[in-house]
Amino acid sequence: MSEVGKALKKARSQVQALLGAEHDSEIIFTSCGTESDSTAILSALKAQPDRNTVITTNVEHPAILTLCDWLEKEGYIVHKLKVDKKGRIDMDEYKSLLNDRVAVVSAMWANNETGTIFPVVEMAELASAKGIMFHTDAVQAVGKIPIDLKSTKIDMLSLSGHKLHAPKGIGVLYLRRGCRFRPLLRGEAVLDWPTSMYYRYWEHDDPHHHVPAHYGVRTERHKLIRYYGAPLGVPGSSDRLTPDEWELFDLDADPHELVSVADDPAYAGVRAELEAELARLQAMYGDEPYRGPGTPHPEWGEGLQQHS
Ligand SMILES: Cc1ncc(COP(=O)(O)O)c(C=O)c1O
Repeated sequence: MSEVGKALKKARSQVQALLGAEHDSEIIFTSCGTESDSTAILSALKAQPDRNTVITTNVEHPAILTLCDWLEKEGYIVHKLKVDKKGRIDMDEYKSLLNDRVAVVSAMWANNETGTIFPVVEMAELASAKGIMFHTDAVQAVGKIPIDLKSTKIDMLSLSGHKLHAPKGIGVLYLRRGCRFRPLLRGEAVLDWPTSMYYRYWEHDDPHHHVPAHYGVRTERHKLIRYYGAPLGVPGSSDRLTPDEWELFDLDADPHELVSVADDPAYAGVRAELEAELARLQAMYGDEPYRGPGTPHPEWGEGLQQHS
């Protein structure tokens, strides 16, 4: 690895430790706190076109408030929570605004003028319980109060290097693994960048999970799953056969995967394309579609061969 590569890796793991993030891949370097704020909110709106509302507070930094003013002009709805004389928001009002039109809540962790700390951990929990993304502008909090993101429901967090004695021109966006993301910048397409992903899971049947064995294909917008229903003698699995069934989710219309459209005639074309893609990926990885007892399959604990 080059010297620059090593320095970046070290910086990324230092920021990961500072934020208590679970994975270093959750740390994205930007040019400043303002860029991180804009990226978080615009990405959340773009990733959920069926949601047009942002909840924030009226004491945010201009990095958020100016963006929200522009969003309102663009037709989005922005609720700015007011604060009382002590700079606190009304949590009952906040709870009453959480609904399925809200794409993202953005609340600062610590205020840049008064130092008031918002209960962002609790706010994120309430948002998450309603399936709403949560972003916090923590530019004035990071390095000053303990932060352990992996034990919270915060999806995105902004920080700014020059508030922590780093040179100007460095910011960070923390993006929780699995959080939907749409980059702001469009650039040269990476050649051969995969647009779909194959995955296979063994049966997972314990008191908390009842997931039959399945494999599937995931693209940016869709997920096609085949529950082939055979535990295949995996250690710890049952010997029960479960129905062979398909699920298809439109992740733009239904990000929480609540309604399968596998048998919806409007998705017949999408399903046919995804089935063909699934077959292509299985052939590429040397995995076989399940055709009943005796179908060859990877051994328990053995990964599929990665092909370039
Ligand atoms: C709370 C807060 N958010 C965002 C910013 C903007 O950060 P940057 O100057 O890195 O764009 C600041 C800067 O003072 C801030 O205090």
